[in-house]
Amino acid sequence: MRQLVVSVADHDVELASDELWRLGVVAIEERHVNGGVELWTSVGEELNSVELPWPWPWRFVEVDAAVADTWRQFAAPVVLDSDLVVQPAWVAYDAPHGATVVVIEPGSTFGMGDHPTTRLTLVAARRWVQPTTRVLDVGCGSGVLAIGTMLLGAACAVGVDIAPAAVPVTLSNALANDVLVDVSTTPLEDVQGEFDLVLANILAPALVELAPHLRRVLASGGVLVVSGILDGAHGHVLDALRPLEVVQTDTLDGWAAVTLR
Ligand SMILES: C[S@@+](CC[C@H](N)C(=O)[O-])C[C@H]1O[C@@H](n2cnc3c(N)ncnc32)[C@H](O)[C@@H]1O
Repeated sequence: MRQLVVSVADHDVELASDELWRLGVVAIEERHVNGGVELWTSVGEELNSVELPWPWPWRFVEVDAAVADTWRQFAAPVVLDSDLVVQPAWVAYDAPHGATVVVIEPGSTFGMGDHPTTRLTLVAARRWVQPTTRVLDVGCGSGVLAIGTMLLGAACAVGVDIAPAAVPVTLSNALANDVLVDVSTTPLEDVQGEFDLVLANILAPALVELAPHLRRVLASGGVLVVSGILDGAHGHVLDALRPLEVVQTDTLDGWAAVTLR
């Protein structure tokens, strides 16, 4: 299994970790070496040919899959609301009566439910889910948001992602949760139809680029939740999404999810 290793100074750990989370990694291990820090993370195969934009030295390292997966021992159910939980598929969990539990096996995708942007987006989404709601999850990763909204009672959910791994992972997670999600690598530009609730937990630059299509696929009166953006540094994303207007902004650990109509 291929690991991405980024070498940074102590004071850059947070910034570099944010960049890695934005890439869609599911776990980061910090190793203190030679007065600095190495950030080790598993990345999908699709990253291999991509130019990594940051200033820090990085390298790919082949490691045994069992070693790369040590983070799994520390995974735990994530309580988003008192009655909404994301459960790692390999962790036993005694759910409270009546709770909605989204069971996720992320494989090499992002979407364990523990990242603040995932948490914020699913909690914001649940405010709008009704039995007639058609959901589009742009950048579905593990499918956690699309599957979560289906479990919360949405009528149907479509997921798209540029990462091919998202398709089999979302399909198998949907099956494990006994819901249907229509998932593909269809670019958002080519997605047809209208959706009452569009979720996009992806990087700010991608949100800006996709903004015209995020507006296009939104049904009249529909709701868009965007995340993957930093609290206090996402004005340019909101500008790109005009004339949609902000209904609510939720924040957690320096991240934001903005609900627009
Ligand atoms: C931060 S992860 C979110 C995963 C999951 N939806 C969640 O909330 O946990 C962002 C996902 O967006 C995907 N992505 C990035 N740019 C995209 C684009 N232009 N169109 C579709 N998916 C994209 C990535 O491959 C990644 O799976």
